[in-house]
Amino acid sequence: MAQGASVTRTATPADVIAGAARWCVVEGDALALLASLPDGCVDAVVTDPPYSSGGMMRADRTRNTDAKYTRTESQGRNADFTGDSRSQRAFIMWCSLWMEEARRASSAEGRIIAFTDWRQIACTIDAVECGGWIYRGIVPWNKGSGGGRPIPGGFRAQCEYAVWGSIGPLPKPEPGVGVLDGFYTVPNSQDDKHHQTGKPTSLMRDLVRIAAPGAVIIDPFAGSGTTGVAAISEGRRVILCERVPEYAEIARRRCEAAAQGTDWRADPRQLSLLKGAP
Ligand SMILES: C[S@@+](CC[C@H](N)C(=O)[O-])C[C@H]1O[C@@H](n2cnc3c(N)ncnc32)[C@H](O)[C@@H]1O
Repeated sequence: MAQGASVTRTATPADVIAGAARWCVVEGDALALLASLPDGCVDAVVTDPPYSSGGMMRADRTRNTDAKYTRTESQGRNADFTGDSRSQRAFIMWCSLWMEEARRASSAEGRIIAFTDWRQIACTIDAVECGGWIYRGIVPWNKGSGGGRPIPGGFRAQCEYAVWGSIGPLPKPEPGVGVLDGFYTVPNSQDDKHHQTGKPTSLMRDLVRIAAPGAVIIDPFAGSGTTGVAAISEGRRVILCERVPEYAEIARRRCEAAAQGTDWRADPRQLSLLKGAP
């Protein structure tokens, strides 16, 4: 990365790829962004796309995302998001499209990590393979005892899953990229959750180590920018994309703070972004 790389919120993907910036947030559609990138410019895709889950029936899936994914006591805290009501067939087709573009934009040693839940795991694996990636496995994220949704008479939906794959043979381990664990226990914390389905920052910090320090990571479905904060904190470059303006702005503020080593919650501007904040 170039010395004195910019930490500005106006950086572009080209700046990040050239090493002139550590991060950028594109506000817009993921597929359009991916299609605009040059071949082979990305080292790892680390993302948490909309799951189009939250129920077995179409009527369940088309409820708003707060109703689908937020515990009753936290409802109304964060904004709803879009793109989450596809049927399973449409979900596979759509994921195949963006995963194929992500593969084209990835280097020969590129890898993909995409989160999913128990309902959509089979579809997500199919999409990884349809997108031309070699499916490598699943990494469960365990929310810990009491985490996840209770299923009366059955097992708690306590885990989500990172499906991962590569373009070809896996690269030899590099300095700063160890052999990563295949299972993570990280409880959700409301203090570290700035999106209805936000992932814990420490979990994402572990996962972005799939790519070497200085590598370019892309998260086409950035939400509140947790992958960005994780990548910046771990010394990787990162391109984020988010379609909901409110979340794109939270992602920018969190990335700015991470790059400057400050706490974004100390910024009074954040209060106006949090729906329902006092
Ligand atoms: C599951 S959330 C990601 C949450 C994120 N991991 C975090 O920690 O905040 C998925 C995000 O993708 C966004 N999204 C859905 N469809 C999109 C599209 N076509 N292009 C860009 N963003 C999209 C949604 O608005 C949502 O914020």
